[in-house]
Parts: sequence; C-alpha cells; structure tokens
Amino acid sequence: MEKTYLMVKPDGVQRGLIGEITARFEKKGFRLVGAKLMHVPRETAEQHYGEHKERPFFGELVDFITSGPVFAMVWEGENVIATARQMMGATNPKDAAPATIRGDYAVSVGKNIIHGSDSPESAAREIGIFFKEEELTDYQKSGSEWVY
Ligand code: PPS
Repeated sequence: MEKTYLMVKPDGVQRGLIGEITARFEKKGFRLVGAKLMHVPRETAEQHYGEHKERPFFGELVDFITSGPVFAMVWEGENVIATARQMMGATNPKDAAPATIRGDYAVSVGKNIIHGSDSPESAAREIGIFFKEEELTDYQKSGSEWVY
C-alpha cells in the first residue's frame, strides 16, 4: 500500500489546525501510520528541502520550518500521494481551490500550512528522513473490506 509524508508546518501548528487537517485525511479514508510533534533540526530541514538549495527562498524556507514545532505524519492508502496533494491544494494559496487545505486556510506561499510528498521517490526519502522504521505502525482497521 502506498505511503506519503505529510507535515503540518509551524504556521498550521501555531494556528491550531492539526486536528482539522488530520480529520480531513481520516475522513477521506486514509490510515495514519506514524505521527509526532517535533522541532525540525536545521540540518534535517536542509536535507529535506535539499532539491531547492539553489532557489532564492531556500534560506527563508529553512528558517520557517525550523521556527517552531511541526506535526510530522505518515499516511497510507490507495493513491495517497497524489490524492493528498489534491487535498492540500496548489503550493501558492492564491491558486489553491476552495475546499482544499491551502484554499481554505492559507494566504501566502511562504506560509502555506502543509507539506506533502510529490512522488513515490520523495515519499520514501522524506519518510526516511523524519521517521525510524520502528516509529511506523502496521495495523488493520477492523471491519469489512469497505473500511480501508
Ligand atoms: S512544489 O510543490 O514542490 O512544486 O513547490 P515549489 O514551488 O517547487 O516550492 C517548493 C517548496 O518551497 C516553498 N516555497 C516558498 N517558500 C518561501 N517563499 C517562497 N517564495 C516560496 N516559494 C515556494 C513551497 O511552499 C514548497 O514547500 P513545501 O513544503 O514542499 O510545500
């Protein structure tokens, strides 16, 4: 089953949106298999956003993600990587559709509430950066096959 890395960024934590955001993914039918509230060490942030190192906002992005606690999560489910990105909305909140997380709660690209992996490769890489194998829980929801 596909897994993705999702992270409520410091602005989402400060604004009290952890519950609202996790509820959306739970109600959709995805399964939470790992979660923790944490301060991201600077080195970890630089590793996580490594592909954006040459971009002008890199320093700002690292400063922001290390500025307060984040809520790091691993979610599992069918097509969870692409579906979670749709549920998050466009990176720039001004382009994010209503009823998406960024469309509903964010205004500026620098503070856009949530991060989500954009491909199976980045999901595997990012889960490996933030979680140890033993921090992920393998379980089945009880019930018939429609509980997925
Ligand atoms: S994406 O979704 O990866 O295609 O988005 P991208 O435009 O490449 O942006 C990569 C991450 O950088 C953040 N970003 C910014 N932060 C601060 N200032 C500016 N101007 C800015 N532009 C983009 C953007 O939110 C992406 O962060 P994550 O955490 O991956 O969503």
